[in-house]
Order: sequence, then C-alpha cells, then structure tokens
Amino acid sequence: MAFYRYFEGEVPSYLSRHFWWAYMWRGLTWFFDHPVIISSILFGQYKTLKRATIERVARVAPKGRMLQLTCVYGRLTPRIMEHLDPQPLHITDIVPVQLELAKDKAFPPEKLLATRMNAENLAYQDNSFSTLLIFFLLHELPPDARRKVLGECMRVLSPGGTLVLTEYAQLPRQHIFYRSPVARRILYRAEPFLEPFWKEDMLQSLQQLAEPFGKSVETVSHQEYFGGFYRVTEYRLTEGI
Ligand SMILES: C[S@@+](CC[C@H](N)C(=O)[O-])C[C@H]1O[C@@H](n2cnc3c(N)ncnc32)[C@H](O)[C@@H]1O
Repeated sequence: MAFYRYFEGEVPSYLSRHFWWAYMWRGLTWFFDHPVIISSILFGQYKTLKRATIERVARVAPKGRMLQLTCVYGRLTPRIMEHLDPQPLHITDIVPVQLELAKDKAFPPEKLLATRMNAENLAYQDNSFSTLLIFFLLHELPPDARRKVLGECMRVLSPGGTLVLTEYAQLPRQHIFYRSPVARRILYRAEPFLEPFWKEDMLQSLQQLAEPFGKSVETVSHQEYFGGFYRVTEYRLTEGI
C-alpha cells in the first residue's frame, strides 16, 4: 500500500514520497519530537550538535534578522529564541503540522514569525536576513531541489551575513558507517538523498550559487563531530569581487 499517496499534492513530491512518515503524519510527529528519539536518530550526537549550533548562532544572530530554514524536532528553536530575545526568529516550512509544533514550543509565541513556504522558492526579499540556520535539511533534498534551496539562501542572506549549517559531513571515507556496506545500505534506505549530498563540495556549490547575486562565500569556522560524520560550519557572505 502506497501510504505516501495520501500526503501528495501540497508539498514537493520527494517530501511526500520519502518523508511523509517523519514529518507529515500527525500520528508520528509527536513521537519524533522527543530528544531521546532525535538523539538515537543522530547516534547520540543531538545534544552536542545542538549546543555547537547554538554557540555559532548566538555569536552572530543578535546583530540582525535571523531565519531558521525549516522546522526541526526537539528544543533547538526555543533555545535559539532565548538567544535572540528581544528580536523575533523567522522560521519557514512547507508542512503545516511542523509549523504548529514549532509554534507550540515557542516562548513567547509572538516572537516566532512562522510562515509556510517552499524553501526552493522563498517569498522573502533579497538580502532580508543577516543570519540563516539550516539544521539537517540539505541531505534530505534531491540534488536539484538542494541547488534551488541553496540559491535562495544566497539570495535572501545579505552581504556580511552568516549561514550556519549543521549536517552530515562530506563523504566520511574512514568512518565505520561508511566503510561497512551493511551500515551504508541501511543509511541509504533511510536517507535516499544522502549519497549525492556526501559527495558535494558545499563551499564550491555556495560560491557558484552566490555569484549571480554579486556575492561571495568564505568559511569562517568548521568543526566535525562523531569521528567526522557530522559537521557544524559557519559561512560568511561578502560582496562579490
Ligand atoms: C529540517 S529537516 C530535518 C530535520 C531533522 N530531521 C530534525 O528534525 O531534527 C525537516 C523539515 O524540513 C521541511 N522541508 C523539507 N523540504 C522542504 C521544502 N522544500 N520547503 C520547506 N520545508 C521543507 C520538512 O517539512 C521538515 O519539517
């Protein structure tokens, strides 16, 4: 039975087809929204990655407007809001139930400016934000959608602005989860777009996508976790040459 068909229509097809059970089915969203579940999905690294992400964001975000590109399970969003206070946090996602979950956890609720958009085609104006956070979204996107999303990031982020990216690291050739064919098969089954993401040179892609907007990208900090399996990277946009 192709359950995903019930979720087709209002979201990109990769989302309804591969991730309906993770993000769209109300019956399971409450289950995933517990730190212990997220932590097991991230092999016990959730707290470390959350802390590292917040550290990066807290240094740059209070200087201007911040966008979190798509919702995430757990307490990351409310913790970021604490650091931004009194400024609001902008957040956008295509799935209504995810936006509801984010709003339920936001305090005070009016400081979370939640909108429903497709990240491939954002309705924000050019240079709207000085900080942008993406937490484990990119590896869930097919390459074409990923390019569009990153292009939109380069458009809405202003020169001088910061992109904080928390994700799987680039191809972890030495990691046991990559070297073991069984582990790799399980991962590819759960994460159908991870393989092309692993192989992408993120800085190179960002530079290419920033160029049409007269911007350039540099890496400010890069830290890997769990034996090089995950990363938290901070990129800065500058005026293009
Ligand atoms: C941030 S990613 C992965 C988060 C991670 N698994 C977690 O919760 O910790 C998942 C979110 O991205 C959203 N999403 C995926 N593709 C999208 C798109 N094209 N536009 C907007 N939201 C999207 C999903 O609806 C979901 O809420």
